[in-house]
This record gives sequence, C-alpha cells and structure tokens, in this order.
Amino acid sequence: MSKTPIIIDCDPGHDDAIAILMAAASDKLDIKGITIVGGNQTLEKCLNNTLKFLSHLDLHIPVAAGAEGPLLRGLTVAPYAHGDSGMDGPQLPPATQKPVEMNAVQLMEKIVRESEQKVTLCPMGPLTNIAIFLRANPDLIEKIDKISLMGGTTLIGNRTPTSEFNIWEDPEAADIVFRSGIPLFMQGLDVTYQAGVNDDEIAQIRAIGNKYSTFVADLLDFFSKYHRNLGRMYTPLHDPCAVAYVIDPDMFTTEDHYVEIDMDGELTLGTTVTHNFGRCTHAPNCTVSLGIDREKFVKLLFDSLEILGRGGRYA
Ligand code: BDR
Ligand code: CA
Repeated sequence: MSKTPIIIDCDPGHDDAIAILMAAASDKLDIKGITIVGGNQTLEKCLNNTLKFLSHLDLHIPVAAGAEGPLLRGLTVAPYAHGDSGMDGPQLPPATQKPVEMNAVQLMEKIVRESEQKVTLCPMGPLTNIAIFLRANPDLIEKIDKISLMGGTTLIGNRTPTSEFNIWEDPEAADIVFRSGIPLFMQGLDVTYQAGVNDDEIAQIRAIGNKYSTFVADLLDFFSKYHRNLGRMYTPLHDPCAVAYVIDPDMFTTEDHYVEIDMDGELTLGTTVTHNFGRCTHAPNCTVSLGIDREKFVKLLFDSLEILGRGGRYA
C-alpha cells in the first residue's frame, strides 16, 4: 500500500506536537514537510519549539517558516493555554536542527509540484500559510487530494462564544480555504472536545516509558492544567484529530454541510457558520466531524508512542 503524502502546517503548540508524533508513527502517512505559522505564539517561538522537539526526538523532517501573522490583522497569541514559550512544560535542550532554506509556501509548492501522488494538507493553526499557497499556486490546487484541518465549531467557541481560535485568528485566510473547492474535512471543537485524555490516561502515557511518551506526558501535564481549570474531565487533543482523520476516517462520524466564515461579525468574527437546517441552496463544501470513537482514538495515540519508541521512521 502506498503511503499518503502529507504536509503538516502548524503552530506548536502542545497538541500540534502530539499530532506530528501521531503522523510520524503511522505507516499510512509520509510526512513530506512541516510548515510553521504564527498562531499559538509568535512564528519565531513556534519554529523554535518545533526544531527543538524534532531534534530531541531524532525525527528528521523538512521544516519551513511561514507567515508571522494573519493576512489582514495583527497576531493574537494564546499564552493562557500554551504558556509563554508556546509549548511550556517539557524541558528540552536547544535545537540542533535548522529550517530548510525555503519559506513555508515555497516548501509546499516544491513538495506538491514534485509529488507523483496527490498531497493531503493537515493544517492545525491559523490558515494563513495555506491561503497564501493556494492563492500563489492555483495550478496546484488539483494536486491537493484533501485538506483535513483542525479548526472551527458548529456550536460553542473557545475564542469567542461562537468561534474557534484557529479560524478566528485569520478569518480571511479561512475564507479562502473554505471557498477553494478542495475536499475539506473539518475537525472542529464539536469533535475535538470529545477527543481527549483524562489524568489516568496521561499517567499511562508516562508509564510507556520511552522519550516520546515522556515528552507527550510532559506536554499534557502542562496543557491539562488549563483545561482542568475550565472544569473539563478530558484534556482535548484538538490537532491530532486532523491527523487521525487521515489515518482512520471510520473513527469519526460526519455530516456534509455548506460552511461559511464570518469575517466581519462584531460578536461572531471567525465563526464557521454551518448551514445545517436543510434550507441551504448551496452544495456542501465541507465534511464536518461531529463524533469520534474516543477509545479508538486514545489507543491510536498510545500505539503511536510505542511504535516511535521502537524507532526507525524519519531517522
Ligand atoms: C486550536 O488552537 C490551538 O491553541 C490549538 O493548538 C489548536 O490548534 C484549538 O482551538
Ligand atoms: Ca495548533
């Protein structure tokens, strides 16, 4: 079976890092590149976090820096969830790896142009890099197989009452992506709040006892504090849902809808407005995940960390 070539666009970020590890462990995926966008923290911090953990974990994947901030707005970072570094918790030595000598859009273009197979995009930060790439390379749109993104919500937001952080951060970029015509699979808060781990499971992750699981447990010990303070039983693993969907879509329950981005609502900026009342005259542009088999998802995470501990891939 040939592997699915993917590009991960992200702003690490605790859950971003876990998503990269889940993808790195999968024999179904071939991570062709990791592109970084300013989001959870500044571009510089997100890039440094990525290079540090890839170096520490001996994972060698091309990394490129992208946009410092949204297309039309200033960057608003999220230290309340991810700490001042953007990935507080694990104590890692300085990075030994360096980014490639291309920017994010150039790396995406090279990968997609040179790939014999269509490429899957997995964005898990603001959609700025992806929007610039699509606008700059309209001829490559047909070479994108699908986009499985973490972002949006049909109900309750985490940045405003109705909007999710990644979409809210750069709504104009999200609008470009949602109108792109590329098959779109939205892993929004509807599903990502179901896809989490509890404190026992974090302890079980630590007990796996290799450097990958120790890193993830250190991430989750920090990340869970924010979510526990909000009264949540599970620490959500938002971004790994974008990867898990590509690995095993059967784990998810979905509905197809026409989704539009609110770009100027005073109270609802960045809302993924989901036309779901059967009166919409537009054809669906998005497959929206609404449910997940949590046990299967957690098993996939555990298995991924054990596989990485046995070594071999991206060495
Ligand atoms: C999203 O925002 C970030 O804080 C997470 O990494 C995730 O991508 C959740 O709203
Ligand atoms: Ca993220």
